Amino acid sequence: MTTRYRVAGTDDFTDDSDRIICEVDGLEIGVFYVDGEYYALANYCVHQGAPLCEGQVTGEMAVDDNWEWQYDHDPCVVTCPWHEWKFDLETGVNISDERYVTPTFETEVEDGAVYVLR
Ligand code: FES
Repeated sequence: MTTRYRVAGTDDFTDDSDRIICEVDGLEIGVFYVDGEYYALANYCVHQGAPLCEGQVTGEMAVDDNWEWQYDHDPCVVTCPWHEWKFDLETGVNISDERYVTPTFETEVEDGAVYVLR
């Protein structure tokens, strides 16, 4: 059964790329506000257990249709503060090796409150 937990007010996110780290049903979760969207990930790096959600949020390097490296400026990746593994904010997948996945959670916004579903 999924339960909805209120984790913050929308006005707790003061600027773009902001995040809060909170405890939801015994699990530490980072909730990010990026480009008008909310994302929720476990605050736990699957490499060696670092507090992943304390890492920097950036764009990412990717190969374009001409096989040239381009930097995507849209902030969509969180970088682990310990060894710099990078995870997609939306899917939790490691962008270099998709075998490694950080759990993600659905979010909802209602009446000025942000909720995480777990
Ligand atoms: S603990 Fe996150 S990259 Fe090593």
